[in-house]
Amino acid sequence: MNSSFSFDILKRPRRNRRNAAIRSLLTETHLSPSQLVFPVFVKDGTSPSEDIASLPGIKRYNRADLLKECKTLLKLGVSALALFPVVDPALKDANGKESRNPDNLLNSISREIKQRFPEMVLIADVALDPYTTHGHDGILDANGDVANDPTVEALMSMATLQAEAGIDYVAPSDMMDGRIGAIRRALDAKDFSHTGIIAYSAKFASAFYGPFRDAIGSQRPPGSYLDKKTYQLNPPNPREAIRDALLDEEEGADSLMVKPAGLYLDIIAKLREKTNLPISAYQISGEYAQIHATAQRGWLNLEAARDESLIAIKRAGADFILTYFAKSYAESYSR
Ligand code: PBG
Repeated sequence: MNSSFSFDILKRPRRNRRNAAIRSLLTETHLSPSQLVFPVFVKDGTSPSEDIASLPGIKRYNRADLLKECKTLLKLGVSALALFPVVDPALKDANGKESRNPDNLLNSISREIKQRFPEMVLIADVALDPYTTHGHDGILDANGDVANDPTVEALMSMATLQAEAGIDYVAPSDMMDGRIGAIRRALDAKDFSHTGIIAYSAKFASAFYGPFRDAIGSQRPPGSYLDKKTYQLNPPNPREAIRDALLDEEEGADSLMVKPAGLYLDIIAKLREKTNLPISAYQISGEYAQIHATAQRGWLNLEAARDESLIAIKRAGADFILTYFAKSYAESYSR
């Protein structure tokens, strides 16, 4: 075939994709490191920071290393952390009492970070799972069910203590009913009206949380599956997710989160139509681990898959993204 041969095609979309400069000019969705939140695991004691087998490149930091990491992240343009404590099993009990200790690991490291790096935005999970022996996010009743209102009462004190420690946003992640309004009132009553709430509003009972549960040791035995279906959302239910999210908005949330992110892009897009609040999305541990595991086999390119997975979440309508890729994305971005 003669290469100068052409049909009478007037509209040729490929003109707008001819080279990198043109593609860059016409890019519709952008993601900068300032829109990312880095979830970090922190442990007590002075023993060295540990690798987490199921989360390649992610560590359980000791306090000193986490403080060092803050400096690096700020330089890279990542200025928000979601903090997760790795709680000493000896401090766990059925009611997660250690979560209400004003000087627990999370509260004391938050004070330290805020003192050294006041510009770092700190987000703290409000949920009992790192602190309970059974790994559930709540207090169990006599039948072994997660009891809603006693759990919410515990979350109110937990959140207030986090605010006292300097946390910018408390992030209730347990999907109990009425928790956002209850926490908002508890914060306001203690003069923490400036402390925000990022509500894990549409959090699904996902099978992809496994590596996170390894990281904080909330799953026993490791590798088993902890069923949280009486409180987290049923994966096939978009309407139920939107309903729950809009309740959180009415109760005073400052941002609504969708979690997991990549498997629930339809929920992000639908929620975008329904709310003017900032939407956050959590690319969870299993989403990150999947990409890494596939790349380790040489079956896809890590950086390209990372970037595509993140821009898809942004394109669906998220304003900011919690992702274990935050640091590596920022490293490539500034280069
Ligand atoms: C629970 C909580 C979970 C995550 C953050 N907070 C998982 C769970 O429900 O067990 C998961 C995050 C991830 O998988 O990266 N309060």
